[in-house]
Amino acid sequence: MSNTPALPAPLPELSARMKALQPSAIIKVANAAREMKEAGEKVMSLSIGVPGFLPPAHVYEAAHAAVDQDSGDYLAGRGSAALVKAFVASMKAKGFEYAENEVCAQVGGKGALFNLLLALVNDGDEVVVPAPYWASYPEMVKLAGGVPVCPTADAQHGYKLTAAQLEAAISGKTKAVLFNNPSNPTGMLYHPDEVAAIAAVLAKHPGVWIISDDIYDELVFEGGVGEAKRAAQLMDSHPELRERLIIVQSVSKTYGMPGWRVGMVAAPKVVVDALLGLTSQSFTNLPAVTMAAAAAALSGPQDFLAEQKARLVKQRDEVLAALEKAGLPCPKPEGAFYVFPQVKGCFGKTTAGGAVVADDVSFCQLLLREEKVACVPGGAFGDAGAIRISYAGKPEELTTALAGVVRFVAGMK
Ligand SMILES: Cc1ncc(COP(=O)(O)O)c(C=O)c1O
Repeated sequence: MSNTPALPAPLPELSARMKALQPSAIIKVANAAREMKEAGEKVMSLSIGVPGFLPPAHVYEAAHAAVDQDSGDYLAGRGSAALVKAFVASMKAKGFEYAENEVCAQVGGKGALFNLLLALVNDGDEVVVPAPYWASYPEMVKLAGGVPVCPTADAQHGYKLTAAQLEAAISGKTKAVLFNNPSNPTGMLYHPDEVAAIAAVLAKHPGVWIISDDIYDELVFEGGVGEAKRAAQLMDSHPELRERLIIVQSVSKTYGMPGWRVGMVAAPKVVVDALLGLTSQSFTNLPAVTMAAAAAALSGPQDFLAEQKARLVKQRDEVLAALEKAGLPCPKPEGAFYVFPQVKGCFGKTTAGGAVVADDVSFCQLLLREEKVACVPGGAFGDAGAIRISYAGKPEELTTALAGVVRFVAGMK
C-alpha cells in the first residue's frame, strides 16, 4: 500500500455558462478600491456609478413605517400597490400612459434587464448593443443564449450611433435592440432629432423588441432635451413603437438609492406577464421596506433633483477641465454622471513610477497604484482606448482625485 495520501476527488464542474461568464469589471475595480480602503489606504474611487447623494427624508420615513407595519408575508411579485401606482403616475408625468398590468417591479434596473433578456432571447438570437455600452449588456445577452452585435460609435462622432449604423447592424436574426439615453459609460445624450432618426429605423423592423434603458432619463443637463424635462424617448416621434417597446427604470440614480435595488419595467402586458412568471420562480417579491421607500421617492416632491443636477453639471465641468489639462480628449457629456476620455495617447509611455502603460487595463492599474485613484478600463464598455470616470461622488474627493489623474498623465514620458 502506498503512503501517499489520496488526492481529494476533483469538484464537479460548474456550468459551461459560468466558464463563458465575464464578471463585471466595474464591480471588480470597485471591490479592489474598497479592499485598499479597508486596509487603511486612502483610495479615491471614480469607478462605480453611485449618484453621490442620499434620498430625501420622506423616503426614510416611508421605509421606517413599512418596518412598523410588516406582516412578514410574501408580497405581490408585481410590486406593492403603492409602488405600482407611484410608478404609473411618474410615467404619466413624463408623457407615457401605462396601465397597472403593464408595469412591474424588478431587483434594480439590472435585474430587470437580466430577466428581460431571459424572457425575449432564444439561443443564437442577435441583440444589437451599441458600443460603448454599459458593461453588463453583452454578458447578459450571452447568459440568455444570445449573440451581442455591437456597432461602435466612436469619440469623433460623440459616441452616438447613427441611424445608418443601426440599420446596418440589424439582420434577419435580430431579436432585440438595446438603447440607453443618456448613456453609461459616455454620458452622451441623444437629442430629439437623433432619437427620432433611431426610432425611424426601428419602425421599419417590426420583428424586433426594443429595450430602452431610461434609468438616467431625468439626469439631463443643458440643451438637447427639447420641451420635455427628460431625455427624448423613441416613442415621442414614433408612438407606434409602444407595442414592442420595453422601458427599464430604476430609483438608483435619480433618487440616490442604488443600494435599495428597486427597478421598474413598463412594457406590453405579454412582456410584463413573462417577467412576473420569472419572478414567481426566482426572487418572488421585493422587500416591503424597499418598495415603500421607492414609492415615496417616486410620488414625493421632486425639487431636490434640480439641486443635484446643478451639482453634477459643476462636477462634470471640473472633470472636463482636468481632462483638458491632462490632454485626454473627451466629448462633452450632457447627461448621467460619467465621462469617457480617450487614453490611447498614453499607451507605450512610461509613468513617473517607472512602469509602461500598455493598455486601458494597465492605465487603470497604474493610476490606482501610483495615485490611488480608481477608474474603470474602457474595454469593459467596448472601447479599449478609453477609461470611464464616474464623477458624482463627494466634491472634495473628486478635486483631489482629478489632481491625481492630471499628475499621473503629466508624469509620463
Ligand atoms: C445603463 C445602466 N443600466 C442599468 C443599470 C442598473 O442599475 P440598477 O440595477 O442600480 O437599477 C446601471 C447601473 O449602473 C446602468 O448604468
